[in-house]
Order: sequence, then C-alpha cells, then structure tokens
Amino acid sequence: MTTPQKSPELSKKDDRFSSTGFIMAAIGSSVGLGNMWKFPYITGENGGAAFFLLFIICLIVIGLPVLLAELAIGRAGRGSAATSFVKAGGPKVFGKLGLLQVIAPFLILTFYIIVAGWTLNYAVQSFSGHLYSNPDYEGQFSSFIGGYIPIVWQAVAILITAFVVIKGISGGIEKFNKILIPGLIILLIGLMIRAVTLPGAGEGVAFFLKPDFTKLSAESALVALGHAFFSLSLGMGILLTYGAYVDKRQSLGSATLAIGAGDLIYAFVAGLIIFPTTASFGIAPDSGPSLVFMALPAAFSAMPFGAFFGGLFFILLAIAALTSSVSLLEVPVSFTMDRWGWSRKKSVIIISVLVMLIGLPSALSFGIAPSLSNIGGKNFFDWLDFLTSNIMLPVGGLITTLFARLLLERCCRSSRIEIRLVQDMAVHASLHCANSCSSGSSAYNRDH
Ligand code: PHE
Repeated sequence: MTTPQKSPELSKKDDRFSSTGFIMAAIGSSVGLGNMWKFPYITGENGGAAFFLLFIICLIVIGLPVLLAELAIGRAGRGSAATSFVKAGGPKVFGKLGLLQVIAPFLILTFYIIVAGWTLNYAVQSFSGHLYSNPDYEGQFSSFIGGYIPIVWQAVAILITAFVVIKGISGGIEKFNKILIPGLIILLIGLMIRAVTLPGAGEGVAFFLKPDFTKLSAESALVALGHAFFSLSLGMGILLTYGAYVDKRQSLGSATLAIGAGDLIYAFVAGLIIFPTTASFGIAPDSGPSLVFMALPAAFSAMPFGAFFGGLFFILLAIAALTSSVSLLEVPVSFTMDRWGWSRKKSVIIISVLVMLIGLPSALSFGIAPSLSNIGGKNFFDWLDFLTSNIMLPVGGLITTLFARLLLERCCRSSRIEIRLVQDMAVHASLHCANSCSSGSSAYNRDH
C-alpha cells in the first residue's frame, strides 16, 4: 500500500494525485496480505464458493458506499484522518469517535506485521532452495510458526516499517508500487495458469466457484463483512486521508468502482491459485492462516525455476505487506504527533515497541504457548483479527456513513433554507410591487 505524504499544505493545488496515480495508489492500498493470505484461508474455512459470493455482496453493497463516503469526506475536509470530520463541518463528537479508527490500525498492525515477517522468511527460504528440500510443507510451516524464529522476523518487519515511517520516504515507495502492483499480478496470473493445470485441480476450482449454501454459518456473514472492510482498507481513516489529495474534477464514483474491481480481481486470482493447488496436493482448505504458506511452496515446487519464482513472489508479497504496514503505523503515529505534540521519531519508536510487545502473544499463539493457542476455540492471533476486522472496522465504517448522512442532510437543509429565502424574498418583492402599484410610492415608504 502507498500513503500520500502528510503535509500541512493538503489544500495546495500542486499537491494532488493525478487521476491514474490516485487509483493506482488506492488499489495499492487495498492489495496486500488481505487478498493473498487472508482471503483464501477465510474462504477455505467458510466453505468456499458460497462465502466468496457473500464477500462480493458485502463488498458491493456495503464496502463500496463506505469507500465512496470516506473519499468524499476526505476531499470535503482536506485534512488528516483525524481532522477531516470536523473540517468538513461535522460536530466535535466525531473527532472522538474517530479514535476507534486509530486504535483499530494499531491492533491490526500487531498481527499483520507477524505475517509480513513470515513472508520475509519464506522469501529467504525459497531463494536458498531450502524450502523445497522437504515436500512436507505443512510440517515445515507448523514447526516454523510453532517456534521462536517468527519473533526475529517480526522484529525485522517492524524495524523496516519504523525506518520507512521515520524517514518519511513514502514518495519512493509510491513509485515502487507502480512496478509492484502490475508485477505482482503478472506473477499471480502465471502461477494461476500452473495451478489450474495441476492434476486434480478441478476439484479445487469447483470448491472455489460452485456455491454450496449449506456450508455458510451466521459467523460467515460477519467474516465476509469484516473482510470487505479489511481488504478495501476501510474504517481506519486511510482512504479519508487519500481523499484529501484528490482533485475536485476526479469522479469519485468511477474511482470507487475501479478500486473495488482491482481488489476483487486480486482476490479472485489468489483463490484460483490456492484452491486448485490444495486440491492437487491434498492440503486441507480450512487450514487457517497457514494455508497460503503450505499451498504456495507446493505450487512453486511444481514449476520450472520454482525456487527463483517462489523467492520473487514472496519478496513481492513482503513488499506489498510492508507498504501496508507503513500506512497502518502512520495512522497512530500522526495521531500522537497531532494530539500530544510528540516528535515523529519519538512517536515511531514508542509505537513500534508497543506493536512488537502487544504482538508477542499473537506470535506465540501457534503452539509454543498452549494458554494462547486455544482461548474458547480460537488462538490469540485469531481473536485479535476477529475483533478488529469484524467488529471495529465495520463500526468505524458505520460512523463514517452516519457522518456522511449528517453532512448530506445539513447540506440539503441549508440549500432548502436558501431556496426558501429566495422564494420569500421574491414573494416579498412582488407584494411590495403590488402594493406600490395600487397605493403609490407612499405605501412602499410606509412599509419600510
Ligand atoms: N487492505 C490491506 C490488505 O488487504 C490491509 C490494510 C488494511 C492495509 C488497512 C492498510 C490499511 O492487505
């Protein structure tokens, strides 16, 4: 994901996105681990095609309107995520409610960064060829996440993120994204062609695309909704910030459609890689967060130059994840700078240390600490993901839509008042006219 650099001169004309630059940046924001890591495993856990359909419905019916509202409020307020609500003319209470949109990205970052670390480890293991020396990808992954090494990669990932946020070199990252996003889809399509032509792939394609509604549960609907928010980066003030950089003439409606379509395409292609591969290699599609890390090495091992392409793929995925983690960190950092006047450096260091510490229980919840591995049927990592994505983000989105409604109402009310004023003045004027015509100019003078 890319983040436009925060500057106090948001409203300057030359500090705007170009039309395509904005759409690319917003697609860059939505495409990340959500599409390639999270979407396949939650689809696998919730029965496949029927869940995919539910996700598409949530994305179109709820996600896109919230996305449009965030962009519109951002453009109206031309401020930061925290100030746009009030700058756009809203009551102060929305500034306080916006706090939820600061806490959510902070908590998401604590587990997102762990997965970014897994990806970095897999890039190194793939390039070295070590990953393919033992075809028990399931066993390899569970012994990796069940140990302490992920904590080292978690630290590496947070250090890179902190370094980028301190230096504020997001401009460079933005340029890099223009190569990353198309590069990633080319590799994905190549991988998809390999996956669907694997022996036994048809079963996986059917699982992903032939709906069986009996497999859906009530929780599936919540998970689909939460993922629409997570995947489109909604409910955390991120697209609100983007909106502040959008030119007045840019059609927000068509931008919203392009962003939604881009996000969906990445998820669709990811599904067409993972499920045929799991079917072909006998990996259970409901393996949870580890699914992609078992299926992808299997798919690469069946390709010529698999170690090289695998390494390249995991590197691109790691970069997509790190550009997202940069923007997730930027939200609480800019909040503490705004609210408490902290310097950028102090803010980044304190928050990164907190992210690392609060992330530890999640990193250790895959076996090594039994008390964290099963808390009422979910591990600590899953609980945190559930609470943030499925509860906090939709509530954040609800606040945004309520606000958008309030603004619209105000706007309509004030324009109605203006219309009434104009009408009243016209009636008044014609009455005067009639009076002065019938009783001469003295009547006019008497009235006034
Ligand atoms: N949308 C990103 C993804 O799908 C995750 C993300 C959420 C990134 C919020 C930034 C902000 O991976």
